[in-house]
Amino acid sequence: MDFKDKNILITGASSGIGKQTAIEFAKLGANIILIARRKEKLDEVEKELKKFNILTLVCPCDVSDKTQVKEMSKTVLEKFGSVDVLVNNAGFAIYGYVKDLSVDEIESQMKTNYFGMMYCIKNFLPSMLEKKSGHIVNVASVAASFGLPGIASYCASKFAMLGFSEGLKHELNGTGIGITVVSPIMVRTEFFDHPSFEKMPKYSPTSLSSKTVAKAILKAANSPRLEIIVPNLVRGAVWFKHTFPYFINPILGKSFKKQLDSIK
Ligand SMILES: NC(=O)c1ccc[n+]([C@@H]2O[C@H](COP(=O)([O-])OP(=O)(O)OC[C@H]3O[C@@H](n4cnc5c(N)ncnc54)[C@H](OP(=O)(O)O)[C@@H]3O)[C@@H](O)[C@H]2O)c1
Repeated sequence: MDFKDKNILITGASSGIGKQTAIEFAKLGANIILIARRKEKLDEVEKELKKFNILTLVCPCDVSDKTQVKEMSKTVLEKFGSVDVLVNNAGFAIYGYVKDLSVDEIESQMKTNYFGMMYCIKNFLPSMLEKKSGHIVNVASVAASFGLPGIASYCASKFAMLGFSEGLKHELNGTGIGITVVSPIMVRTEFFDHPSFEKMPKYSPTSLSSKTVAKAILKAANSPRLEIIVPNLVRGAVWFKHTFPYFINPILGKSFKKQLDSIK
């Protein structure tokens, strides 16, 4: 797909990966629909996009609320007619032992990270199917492949995202619509500003820039693949986990548990 004049909708566009993805698509002449809860932040991103001479729309929306997503999709489709690329990127994590997290805290991660994605797909897929074109990019994480202590409920939401995407990909075969999951390792964004991460070292030396992940999202929007892991070499670790689970799982589990025990 040539992105010029295409309509790209990005959830979680007020910061981090989503904001950078908006900039990268805008550089290629795409129209950008910016979705998140904080309107003032979305307005700032929209201001930054003005120099690219494209159409933009700021649409504040809490993706975990299906009524808001329905309203938002109505507004978007009235203004743009269709969405060519839907980037489901809104997401967050709460760090801590499952025994210490409240049911609401666990549910809230599923509601935004998984149900938010599903609500957006349910509202935009019909127009894509009618047009027989489009691509859905779901931003998951390597946490979609490894169940880790401290972020068990976050992992569950990303496993769910990957499973849903795999099933839907088979359903969409032959329709002209693609779906690809982008799964990065740690990225330097506001993600770790959540108070539950307070005592964690903010970033590891290997953590990625938003730009690296944004570039992978652009690649994903034109890819026939189910999942793009960023960086690519981490695909080896996922293969290793599935092939030798009894070897890698205890090592990873022990090291993440040690970190959790030391700061909680
Ligand atoms: N940073 C990492 O290490 C990392 C690694 C792998 C995957 N990811 C994934 O990458 C995605 C983007 O995260 P990021 O790293 O860029 O973090 P970020 O800077 O904190 O961005 C998260 C975005 O999601 C939006 N958001 C959160 N809850 C929302 C809701 N209920 N409705 C609408 N928007 C909502 C936030 O905007 P508002 O607060 O304005 O709503 C913000 O724009 C997430 O899905 C995350 O799971 C991150």
